[in-house]
Amino acid sequence: MTELELLVDLHKDGVRQGPGSVEETLKAFSFIESEHFEKLKIVDIGCGTGGQTITLAKHTGAQITAVDLFPEFLNVLNNKANELELLKNIKTVEASMDNLAFHDEEFDVIWSEGAIYNIGFERGLQEWKKYLKRGGYIAVSEATWLTKSRPKEIEEYWNREYADINMAANRIKLIEDNGYSLVGYFVLKQSSWMKNYYEPIKNRLQKFLERHNNSESAKQLYESSVEEIEIYEKYKDYYSYGFYVAKKNIIFSLL
Ligand SMILES: C[S@@+](CC[C@H](N)C(=O)[O-])C[C@H]1O[C@@H](n2cnc3c(N)ncnc32)[C@H](O)[C@@H]1O
Repeated sequence: MTELELLVDLHKDGVRQGPGSVEETLKAFSFIESEHFEKLKIVDIGCGTGGQTITLAKHTGAQITAVDLFPEFLNVLNNKANELELLKNIKTVEASMDNLAFHDEEFDVIWSEGAIYNIGFERGLQEWKKYLKRGGYIAVSEATWLTKSRPKEIEEYWNREYADINMAANRIKLIEDNGYSLVGYFVLKQSSWMKNYYEPIKNRLQKFLERHNNSESAKQLYESSVEEIEIYEKYKDYYSYGFYVAKKNIIFSLL
C-alpha cells in the first residue's frame, strides 16, 4: 500500500478526519445570514467522511455538494447519508480542490473544515472565490498560532509539517486583502482535538498496525501519528484551528 492509501485506511473509520465538533460547525454556521437556509447551495471542500456535512444537512436542509479527493471517504459519507435519509440533500463529488469544475457563482456558501491547508490558505481564498455568489460566505477552519512567541520545538515541528500556520490577525488580513469581509472568528476547543479527533485515532492505531502486519510504512504512520498527538498534548496552548467566516464583498474595490 502507498503512504496515501495507508493514511486513508487509518482515517476512514473516523467520524472526523480533523479537529472539530457539531457545536463548532453550528457556531460557525450561526454567522451566516439567510431567510431560507433550505435554499442555500453549499459546497463542502475536503469533506472527508462528512462529519460536518451531515451536521450542515440536518441543521439547514440545504443542498450540499461534498468534495473530496478520496472515494473511500465519500463512500462512507454516502452510506451515512443514506442511513439518515439525507441523500436528497447531499451529493458527493470526487475531485481535487485545486481543479474544481463548478460554475462561476454557483454556491451561496463554501465550507471547508481542516482542509484548506491542502491548497494553502490564500490560494484557496483566491481560487474558490469565483464559485461563490457576491454576498456569499466562506467558512474555513485552519491551523492558527495562539501566541506571538512559542518554544523552539513547536515552532520547528510546524515549520516542518505546515509552515503556512499563522496568527489570526494575519489570516484576517489575507481574507480582507482578497475581497471578503470577516463576519466571525473563533478558536476550536481543546476537546475538539483530543476527544473528537486524537482519542479515536489512538483507539484505532493498534488494529491498524495489525491489519498491515506491522509493515515499515504502517509503523512510520503509527509513529508520526503518536508524535503529532504528543506534540499537541504538550503545546496545545500555543496553537489550534481558527474558524474564519467571511462574506464575499458585493462591491469590488478598484484599488
Ligand atoms: C484534515 S481532513 C478534514 C476532513 C473533514 N473536513 C473533517 O474536518 O473531518 C482533510 C481532508 O481533505 C481531503 N483532501 C486532501 N487533499 C485534497 C485535495 N487535493 N482535494 C480535495 N480534498 C482533499 C482529505 O481527503 C481529507 O478528507
